[in-house]
Amino acid sequence: MALYIGLMSGTSLDGVDGVLVDFGSIQGPPMTVRTHRHQAFAPSLRAELLALNAPGDNELQRAEIAANAVARCYAGVVQALLQQHGAATARDVRAIGAHGQTVRHRPGAFDGTGFTTQLLNGALLAELTGIDVVCDLRRRDLAAGGQGAPLAPGFHAAIFAAPGESRAVVNLGGIANLTVLGADGSVRGFDCGPASALLDGWCQRHRGRPFDDGGRWAASGQVIEALLTALLAEPYFSLPPPKSTGRDLFQLGWLDAQLARHSPSAAPKDVQATLAALTVRSIASDVRRHADGATLLLVCGGGALNTHLMQQLAAQLPGVHVDTTANAGLPVDQVEGAAFAWLAQRFVERLPGNLVAVTGARGPRVLGALYPA
Ligand SMILES: Nc1ncnc2c1ncn2[C@@H]1O[C@H](COP(=O)(O)OP(=O)(O)OP(=O)(O)O)[C@@H](O)[C@H]1O
Ligand SMILES: [Mg+2]
Repeated sequence: MALYIGLMSGTSLDGVDGVLVDFGSIQGPPMTVRTHRHQAFAPSLRAELLALNAPGDNELQRAEIAANAVARCYAGVVQALLQQHGAATARDVRAIGAHGQTVRHRPGAFDGTGFTTQLLNGALLAELTGIDVVCDLRRRDLAAGGQGAPLAPGFHAAIFAAPGESRAVVNLGGIANLTVLGADGSVRGFDCGPASALLDGWCQRHRGRPFDDGGRWAASGQVIEALLTALLAEPYFSLPPPKSTGRDLFQLGWLDAQLARHSPSAAPKDVQATLAALTVRSIASDVRRHADGATLLLVCGGGALNTHLMQQLAAQLPGVHVDTTANAGLPVDQVEGAAFAWLAQRFVERLPGNLVAVTGARGPRVLGALYPA
């Protein structure tokens, strides 16, 4: 038994997904999720984290206090996981792999190294849980000239690759990231562009709801082709990998600027339909360009529960079987958390967590910093 906890809170800012994972023995299955817990952020913390995505007053102090709050929220998830599982105590868990909350992501910018900021007080999390905490998992890759993202492809390969078969995995979080698993065992990956970050934001603004349940609102609208073309003209979409992005680029201000120019009087539901089409078409075009030959596309992340997105993806990719990771052994809301448990294990065993072909780093690196229990 090798128990690890993975904690992920992504750019959707919906809260934390925690998983207690058993990596078992070398002979057994690669891993088993023992238990999963989702914890929404308190509305005040969510609002503060969202605000910290953009420049504002007194940022240093506010970021530190938010990092403490994220640690307390994460610690609550750890306690809940241990309680749910029942048969393990803190001492049985080898380490926690904790992502923290990204509020800025500018790899390579400014001075050539740039920075990526995941708010989390790892010291406080170690103090509150009594478990080794491995966090700050992206910055070493940036130090080595990489994007620091996406980090899930190595884990996707470990779990979803099939020898001799070409497959793709797409995670629909705030941002969509694609992993391409070649029939020859190669692994590539990059961020495609916005997913729920824009869909949620527009839904919150016009319907007062945090997300478009099942994508029903988007499905009720008509895609505005002129607006879609303008949105797809964003240079990020045609950049070659390695590339990664976040709310630094894809937030409602970006959409508002295009709306003002192309469709100032568009009906909100038609804009939602267009945003869904933006996610679907950018991913489909990336799959065609970079995963040519893939016959299976496995979808994970909360966006996999958006029926409209799933149907449209399948429609845009004839010849590709579009399915969720749940049918490949891992529920859609557990994949990213499990990836961070996997990254903690890689750190503990001093194995690289990055893939040079994905992040563009100068070499494989052990990722993370340790706060011992
Ligand atoms: N029933 C549903 N219908 C439509 N969308 C849903 C549903 N359930 C969840 N979602 C979407 O999934 C999002 C949360 O997904 P997830 O937690 O995977 O994203 P994330 O936190 O940004 O993670 P990451 O950045 O690691 O990918 C929600 O914000 C919402 O947009
Ligand atoms: Mg989430």
